[in-house]
Amino acid sequence: MRLRGVPLWPAQPRATQLRTTTRHQHPEPPIDSLSSPGTSIATRAIAITVRDVGKSVAGPEGEVRILDGVDLTVDEGDSVAIVGASGSGKTTLLGLLAGLDLPSRGTIELAGQRLDALDEEARAALRAREVGFVFQSFHLLPSLTAEENVALPLELAGREGSEDRARVREVLQAVGLEPRRRHYPRQLSGGEQQRVALARAFVGRPRILFADEPTGNLDQATGQHVSELLFELNRRSGTTLVLVTHDLSLARRCRHLYRLDGGRLHADATPAEGAA
Ligand SMILES: Nc1ncnc2c1ncn2[C@@H]1O[C@H](COP(=O)(O)OP(=O)(O)OP(=O)(O)O)[C@@H](O)[C@H]1O
Ligand SMILES: [Mg+2]
Repeated sequence: MRLRGVPLWPAQPRATQLRTTTRHQHPEPPIDSLSSPGTSIATRAIAITVRDVGKSVAGPEGEVRILDGVDLTVDEGDSVAIVGASGSGKTTLLGLLAGLDLPSRGTIELAGQRLDALDEEARAALRAREVGFVFQSFHLLPSLTAEENVALPLELAGREGSEDRARVREVLQAVGLEPRRRHYPRQLSGGEQQRVALARAFVGRPRILFADEPTGNLDQATGQHVSELLFELNRRSGTTLVLVTHDLSLARRCRHLYRLDGGRLHADATPAEGAA
């Protein structure tokens, strides 16, 4: 099920692809066994592989080249921040990584699947199983309350038992919105809507969480709290985080930091110690 391209998500145990762990490196060929003999060094599954991705779109004055040769490998359980100037293509890239759109060139593998090999329906199904996505503009359904928006991914997956209802309450509580659960989006502030969008993205315990400016509308204290939630999810559930942000304190908590500039990703300054 897709809502204007909105992915819906509950996570499941998954087949994996492994590679030897190196950081800030270009993609390496996958090792396709869980216990390859001779790989006694640490191995980690790959969540995302991007190879030479370009994206151009038709603009009013002709072709606009947004991305031009992006390479990236994200290990499962990793945390990655993408920073860059406004208009540098961060939202475009995140949409491609999640399979909401297809690149003009290059390939993307998400959770072991080549996205260009899947039709739209299959990509939506993959997102539903594996991915949570927090949109820069939230994409909440206006006719549903906060609680109903958060519950939607579970309902669409046929999960409406008492445990699932409790999970919805739990995530609403986690983002501090239990008292506003019956409010419709128009009755919520921008920051509250953002937190509903976050709760909806992680209610199903996704394997990979993409978040586009997840703290963009929040005051410092609430932003800090949301950031704690994201990294707790990363630590406790092994959720892979890919965040786009202008918030450097959030970016520096990630294990990897990239800057998008000139249509390419560049490894940025080493994040602070203690990064998740
Ligand atoms: N459908 C489109 N047609 C033409 N140009 C587009 C289209 N979508 C995006 N662009 C252009 O591509 C560039 C990248 O847009 P994108 O939304 O990815 O930037 P961003 O890095 O997320 O910016 P911000 O930090 O402001 O959110 C922008 O210059 C934008 O105007
Ligand atoms: Mg953007």
